[in-house]
Amino acid sequence: MQIDFEEWARRYGTPLYVYDFDRIRENYTRLKEAFSGQKSLIAYAVKANSNLSVIAHLGKLGAGADCVSIGEVLRARAAGIAPYRIIFSGVGKRDEEIRQALEEEILLLNLESEAEMKRVEAVARELGKEARISIRVNPNVDPQTHPYISTGLHENKFGVEIDMAKRMYIYAKNSQWLDPVGIHFHIGSQLTELEPIREAAGMVADLVRSLAAIGVEIRFFDVGGGLGIVYRDENPIDVKAYADVITEAVRGLDLTIVCEPGRFLVGDAGWLVTRVLYEKRNGDKRFVIVDAAMNDLLRPSLYNAYHRIEALFDGEERGEATPAEVVGPICESGDWLGKEVLLPETKPGDLLLIHSAGAYGFTMASNYNTRGRAAEVACEEGRCRLIRDRESFEDQIRLEQAHLEERG
Ligand code: LLP
Repeated sequence: MQIDFEEWARRYGTPLYVYDFDRIRENYTRLKEAFSGQKSLIAYAVKANSNLSVIAHLGKLGAGADCVSIGEVLRARAAGIAPYRIIFSGVGKRDEEIRQALEEEILLLNLESEAEMKRVEAVARELGKEARISIRVNPNVDPQTHPYISTGLHENKFGVEIDMAKRMYIYAKNSQWLDPVGIHFHIGSQLTELEPIREAAGMVADLVRSLAAIGVEIRFFDVGGGLGIVYRDENPIDVKAYADVITEAVRGLDLTIVCEPGRFLVGDAGWLVTRVLYEKRNGDKRFVIVDAAMNDLLRPSLYNAYHRIEALFDGEERGEATPAEVVGPICESGDWLGKEVLLPETKPGDLLLIHSAGAYGFTMASNYNTRGRAAEVACEEGRCRLIRDRESFEDQIRLEQAHLEERG
């Protein structure tokens, strides 16, 4: 839909996250339809954007939730996602998180080590409940993405090797408290190559076949997330080809395909709207200083990530566009949002639009420099509404203030 960013920036202030819920629906539907003819569950990776309204929107479309902390599980529940559509992954679950997840009766606890399996077994025994589990296999496949978001190599901390997985499945099958019904892999994020997925899916499907031969019946084949999107000029994976590669790998097996996309569903459906504060030059270098910063959108600072920045003002009479570094007010040289951004001369109050900020934008925001986190707006079928208030100074100090009062 056409969004009047100027109007919403005026109404709710900047920096402001704006999400297009129609676009999210289209992204979800495209992926779900790619798996038609196959039992499938799209479990939205809540970490990408965990606003309750975003989760609820996807939940109403039929999505489940892939969570990495009990906080995310509780968010998914609060947003109305049914427990049997929730998966809990992560390398370091605490006993209390395991207990709560079992009490919530979620679909799967995804295990990432033998030690963790023993903890889950112990907690399940205490509760007198059988834990439905899946095991994350690390297939040692190079996903050809940024090293910080690559996860399927033995050098990464995620998952277990295939031989170890097999031993764990045998142990789980013989345990009264563990029900091994799922298998999982996730090789990385922002993937643009299909081959590593084909390779990993093939290896893991072979493991499912050899497990069946020894009486371990896997029902959920979880292929993780990772589908890349366009930030600059990437050539993203075609979702139909992606679904076909997976369907092909599991041919002959009776499985529900679980897929855990985050970025693909919400990444291109979000923008960070920011206002220019000042322009300055240091020597030859031109800086445009805006009111958003690395605490609002960390991806450029953390991964050197590119986000397209568009001027929302009429630059016609402002002269030629020249390269500028777009930076925030935070006291770090790493606080930049765009480098070599071609912009005409800017004036205080001009609006800039930072694209593809729907995933890992707000969720990675912080209060660094005691900056309140941005407000969030959702637009759907021609209307926009506030889905999170701007964080105030009082919000930020609330937990500290309680202690001040206690001490008189
Ligand atoms: N499943 C698992 C087990 C994951 O670890 C992740 C992401 C996903 C699913 C969702 O991946 P997606 O479909 O969004 O690629 N902060 C980084 C991305 C970190 C991804 C971590 N795991 C960024 O801003 O690029």
